[in-house]
Amino acid sequence: MRAGPRWSPGRALWRWLEAFAPLVLLAVALPPTSWALGSPEERLRQACNTCRGIADRFTQGLTDTAKKNFGGGNTAWEEKTLSKYESSEIRLVEIIENLCDSSNFECNNMVEEHEEHIETWWFKWKKKYPELFKWLCIETVKVCCPAGTHGLDCVACRGGSESPCHGNGHCDGDGTRGGDGSCKCKKEYQGEFCLDCSDGYYNSYKNDTHSVCTACHDSCKTCTGPTNKDCKDCKEGWLRNEEEACVDVDECAVEDSPCNSDQYCLNTDGSFSCKGCDLSCLGCTGEGPNKCKSCITGYEMKDETCTDVDECAQPEKVCTRENTDCINTPGSYKCICSQGFEDKDDICVPSIKAEEETPANTSSSDTHEDL
Ligand SMILES: *[C@@H]1O[C@H](CO)[C@@H](O)[C@H](O)[C@H]1NC(C)=O
Ligand SMILES: *[C@@H]1O[C@H](CO)[C@@H](O)[C@H](O)[C@H]1NC(C)=O
Repeated sequence: MRAGPRWSPGRALWRWLEAFAPLVLLAVALPPTSWALGSPEERLRQACNTCRGIADRFTQGLTDTAKKNFGGGNTAWEEKTLSKYESSEIRLVEIIENLCDSSNFECNNMVEEHEEHIETWWFKWKKKYPELFKWLCIETVKVCCPAGTHGLDCVACRGGSESPCHGNGHCDGDGTRGGDGSCKCKKEYQGEFCLDCSDGYYNSYKNDTHSVCTACHDSCKTCTGPTNKDCKDCKEGWLRNEEEACVDVDECAVEDSPCNSDQYCLNTDGSFSCKGCDLSCLGCTGEGPNKCKSCITGYEMKDETCTDVDECAQPEKVCTRENTDCINTPGSYKCICSQGFEDKDDICVPSIKAEEETPANTSSSDTHEDL
């Protein structure tokens, strides 16, 4: 009947088989459960996704081929050819060839199976039903449903097809032939229709069909309004005061600190934490050397701050050996041999000059003594 290159049945499938023959053999060798794509229910949803993908690629193909064939001269002959091409089988074949990636078996399979439908639409229904997705996926192949509906018969989602789950959740199977239409609510909402608020949220607006849930004050577990006086229950770490408001419990304001002796307690909203004292402190009330209760050895309290003691500056000499210098260190001090002296068996002796030293360096005298 029609001339020109024709989309041959089975071509896409063969192309696919060629590219993936090893995988196919493997898949056939394994038990079906290990490669079949999920439950029948999942396959229903997948089928709609596949069809939607095909319809999207078709739309893209229309755009691509439109661009490709415009431009150049504008003779009557070309215009005639162009308008002929616009709805030609050549163009259709070109589009169909690019509907699926070669690795996408589901897609190739579906195009294969419903190619006649696509052709019918192209030549007969495209003008009347310009939306391929609706015509093909919903009405002809029947793998999808209109938005807001679900299941084999495309029945309305919970809360109605206009606004499934009242806009506060996702309807199971929405737009596919699968699902049960139940609502999976956003975290702020709960209940069958996603009109109730989850714990920690209150209704800041509500009528029969519309509900807005807003977060409670930090101090509330549950609430009826936005402030800490609107709590129904206080959160852990918060207690109700005389004004009926939930206020933070100061875990640190107790006789026995909940922290270790080398830590201080830091109160926070609804909780507390333990932080390490400054290294110069022996117990502390806060951060830094000026919050010490007392100081470790080698430090003294000066201007309420634990300060290093300079042992070398004390009237009484701490380095008592001859020819030694005192070096102050944080929390302590060191005695080292003065310049020109070196340590020999804990005695500072005059150092030998480098030039004289070299020939004398035969072997260590210590080793000889041991022999
Ligand atoms: C409920 O509130 C929404 C949003 O304000 C409004 O569009 C709708 O008409 C209201 N419905 C009723 C029954 O009052
Ligand atoms: C000589 O001895 C000193 C210490 O006794 C050592 O530090 C130095 O490296 C030695 N030099 C040589 C050349 O062996």
